[in-house]
Amino acid sequence: MHILVTGGAGYIGSHTVQELLRAGYRVTVLDNLSRGHMAVAQVLDGAEFVWGDIADRELVVGLVRSRGIQAVLHFAALSLVGESMAEPSLYYHNNVVKGLSLLEAVREAEVPYFIFSSTAAVYGEPVQVPIEEDHPLAPTNPYGATKLAFEEALRWYGAAYGIKYVSLRYFNASGADPEGGLGEDHQPETHLIPLVLQAALGLRPEVTVFGTDYPTPDGTCIRDYIHVTDLAEAHVLALRALEGGLVSGAYNLGNERGYSVREVVEVARRVTGRDFPVVEGARRPGDPAVLVASSRRIREELGWRPRYGDLETIVRTAWEWHRRHPEGYEGGT
Ligand code: UFG
Repeated sequence: MHILVTGGAGYIGSHTVQELLRAGYRVTVLDNLSRGHMAVAQVLDGAEFVWGDIADRELVVGLVRSRGIQAVLHFAALSLVGESMAEPSLYYHNNVVKGLSLLEAVREAEVPYFIFSSTAAVYGEPVQVPIEEDHPLAPTNPYGATKLAFEEALRWYGAAYGIKYVSLRYFNASGADPEGGLGEDHQPETHLIPLVLQAALGLRPEVTVFGTDYPTPDGTCIRDYIHVTDLAEAHVLALRALEGGLVSGAYNLGNERGYSVREVVEVARRVTGRDFPVVEGARRPGDPAVLVASSRRIREELGWRPRYGDLETIVRTAWEWHRRHPEGYEGGT
């Protein structure tokens, strides 16, 4: 089966392409390189890379028809909570307007299967933890709101046009492929684990803890960190399940265990064996205090089993990549 992966040059997309290739799928990547990395193509040399935009409907329909594409895995989106608070228009344009254009192309070309990169940010401030899929959907930032808008469009398109879909709601993706040359490299970097590791490498003078007055045991935000390879494998499972007749729906992906910002810093100090300065700062707008998943549904219905669940392993795999790529992909693969 031939798969189109939008955003396959980005962090989660590239790791998923790796797993699709390992599972024997043929893969075409569509990426406009606005956030992804050209160097990823060298690591994933079994996939074809097309430099283009998801909103280029003619291009997408042409790719689907010429390659006989049967499934679209849609990762191409903006994904930073803080940036979305400052620039909602960017998020509505990229994640909703362009996303809907992609969905129109999928409908026109009659692609049967669609897997969408959604997020825990669709839930907003939890009223109950761990968060199950039927938790109220009330995003606290434009990023989550735009992901939810696309999820809803997909649901209605699925019902009316017969597209079979799965929305995967990721909690905090982190870590790096333990075997390969893929890792996490955002410009600018805003995610906690890579920032902490850059501080451990001496590339940053310090790490700032965003908020120490949250209603959590140590006052800092709690997140559920999930290894990117475990996330990627979930996409392969979801695809196989769709092919086998799975009913469309949404699944959470997390490890069902939360760690505070201070705990992440401690694990990073232990794993790297290095100390680095940590300073306390103000809350970052849009950040919920606690996000912890229930992944019971995907475990029970699709048989998902995370292989790299503990935080030490997640941080260690990230550290191995960061040590080899201190300047990210720009320094070479
Ligand atoms: N944090 C700091 N200092 C930093 C960076 C982050 O204290 O310099 C804190 C944040 O406030 C947050 C935690 O570390 O509490 C994790 O922050 P990240 O930026 O790494 O991740 P987010 O939780 O903001 O967001 C990530 C993804 C989103 C997704 C969300 C769901 O980027 O796409 O997880 O949990 F929606």
